[in-house]
Amino acid sequence: MANPSALVTVMIKAAEKAAKKLVRDFGELENLQVSKKGPADFVSRADIMAEKTIKEELLKARSDFGFLGEESEPHTGSINSRFIVDPIDGTTNFLHGIPQFCISIAAEVDGQIKAGVILDPIKHELFWAEKGLGAYCNGKRLRVAGRTDLSEALLVIGTPFAGHGDADAFIAFLKKTMGNVAGFRRMGSAALDLAYVAMGRFDMYYETHLKPWDVAAGILLVEEAKGIVTDSTGGNDMLKNGSILAANPILHPLLRNLLR
Ligand code: IPD
Ligand code: CA
Ligand code: CA
Repeated sequence: MANPSALVTVMIKAAEKAAKKLVRDFGELENLQVSKKGPADFVSRADIMAEKTIKEELLKARSDFGFLGEESEPHTGSINSRFIVDPIDGTTNFLHGIPQFCISIAAEVDGQIKAGVILDPIKHELFWAEKGLGAYCNGKRLRVAGRTDLSEALLVIGTPFAGHGDADAFIAFLKKTMGNVAGFRRMGSAALDLAYVAMGRFDMYYETHLKPWDVAAGILLVEEAKGIVTDSTGGNDMLKNGSILAANPILHPLLRNLLR
């Protein structure tokens, strides 16, 4: 296995520090589920606190980097590099006590994602990737699945929800693909969806209307696991336009054709 660089080590440390508190918070949620007010406020506080911890750790080690996170004001660093952070990706799962969420941290240097870390603190799966060095989960090198037949492919998707996404376009996509693939799953964490494509659990991933912090780290994981990631038109503007199609090099064009 390649050893993580100093930069990736900093990112892993920040994720692990925030994860300890998140796991405690997740445990406490069980008591809050039944309360009338529900756990929403508690979760939004957990989210903000996790981002604060991650931001402090990252900027302590790399004070010249900028920072873009879901829960705080963006800030520009003194060099053309920034961290892109989602402190809880899969908040709706977290809120409902479903153990499918993660911390996602990417490092972007000169407009390119150079490193990505995704930590699932419940299943103890630590994913990291570094440009040119490969993608790993708990020390094991990742490769996208080898399946080449669309009818055997398991697709993970992000469906539109309350005030988010384009339901009609998504239904059109489902109509076109449903009869051609082995099945769909909606897991609720874009970052883990991409990590699972990188490790071959899923064959493909498709979602639109995403934010950079949902996908920056996961895109690099899939690419370093020898998969293909584009936006829905086949271009490379995923971070700007928020649509993502990820799969192995054989299945990717087949799915692209279905999307046309
Ligand atoms: C969400 C998750 C979800 C995706 C949404 C994202 P959040 O992020 O990644 O899977 O479908 O589009 O907003 O809100 O849990 O950080
Ligand atoms: Ca997210
Ligand atoms: Ca989030």
